[in-house]
Amino acid sequence: MADRHATLASFADFRRIAKTRIPPLIFDYFEGGAGDETTIRENETAFAAVRLPQRVMVDMSAIDSSGDLLGESCAMPLALAPIGFAGLMCRRGETQAVLAAEAAGVPFCLSANAICSIEEVARAARRPFWFQLYMMRDRDVVVDLMRRAWDSGCRTLVFTVDLAMPGIRRRDIRNDLFGGTTPAKLLSYVRHPRWLIDVGLRGGPHTFGNLAPYVAQARNLASFGSWLMGQFDAGVTWRDIAWLRDQWRGKLVIKGVLDPRDAQLALDSGADAIVVSNHGGRQLDSVSPTAAALPAIAQAVGGHATLLVDGGVRSGQDVLKALLLGADGVLIGRPWAYAAASGEAAIAALLARFQAELRTAMVLAGLRDTDEAKAIGRSHQLSRTANPPI
Ligand code: GLV
Repeated sequence: MADRHATLASFADFRRIAKTRIPPLIFDYFEGGAGDETTIRENETAFAAVRLPQRVMVDMSAIDSSGDLLGESCAMPLALAPIGFAGLMCRRGETQAVLAAEAAGVPFCLSANAICSIEEVARAARRPFWFQLYMMRDRDVVVDLMRRAWDSGCRTLVFTVDLAMPGIRRRDIRNDLFGGTTPAKLLSYVRHPRWLIDVGLRGGPHTFGNLAPYVAQARNLASFGSWLMGQFDAGVTWRDIAWLRDQWRGKLVIKGVLDPRDAQLALDSGADAIVVSNHGGRQLDSVSPTAAALPAIAQAVGGHATLLVDGGVRSGQDVLKALLLGADGVLIGRPWAYAAASGEAAIAALLARFQAELRTAMVLAGLRDTDEAKAIGRSHQLSRTANPPI
């Protein structure tokens, strides 16, 4: 672990540093969610409420925390979630994140709304990464983005289905996130000189790299913002996913399922994987926390697809809890975004922290490998016997 970050012991530590480094308007975009942010809080408390087993006097001298995600063997069953704008956390942020993920042996998923384009990330990367997309009104853009992802070596498409329209995020409204530059915004950048030099002055262009070819007035984030708003399509149905399935030859991951009926429909549409997700509490506030929704969805999926979960995963213990609740792995979002505020080495340190926590939890819980934990998850033992109401 890089020395500078060796004393960052938890998600809260990485978050605290990010908050000091990043202008509040940008920090709030990652930190915030929909409505009263009840779901953000409950995503975390639902994982915190899950009780792990403790087993003693079991030979745990050789354990294996590696996992398999969609046919890729990973150092742990965890991938970096797609996050729009993440490239604003540090200079050309997504190119730094992909390298940290590769070094840690876990997949990186690039957001359609990233700052760095698929091609820029592919030039930085040494291995294929995942690409995320959601349905846009202009289907030619969707098709072209899939072509570009494929040509850049991506073979796993993470398709977000909980974004028929953006959730109402009060922080972004108050901060006028997509409004023009104002003296107050400029002042907040100047008050974060390290970020201003690294990202503001040296880290351009500050556009959505993947979308730039399609946006005629692609000058600044405000013009992208209004183009994006016009692209949300509330008329999308599973029929469109069937269309998408025909277009994409690689693995298809459906992200944003919170109801077992939708999990079944995703399977029927040919999904290779499902992500139990409420979009990190950013879409509809007061929906179920993901750790609570997971067991019933695991039962519905019944091993017919890879099952991932995100929302509230803050530590290696939470990764183990997710497996015990029936997932094959997790995505982490805010943890890597906050680490990214300190650059690639900090993301590496965060991932090393997760790995150490996962291994420690496995040893102390008496679980030798992730398959053993997943077998418990598949048998739904934990969700039946867990002390708290999850
Ligand atoms: C977009 O997916 C967002 O959550 O802001």
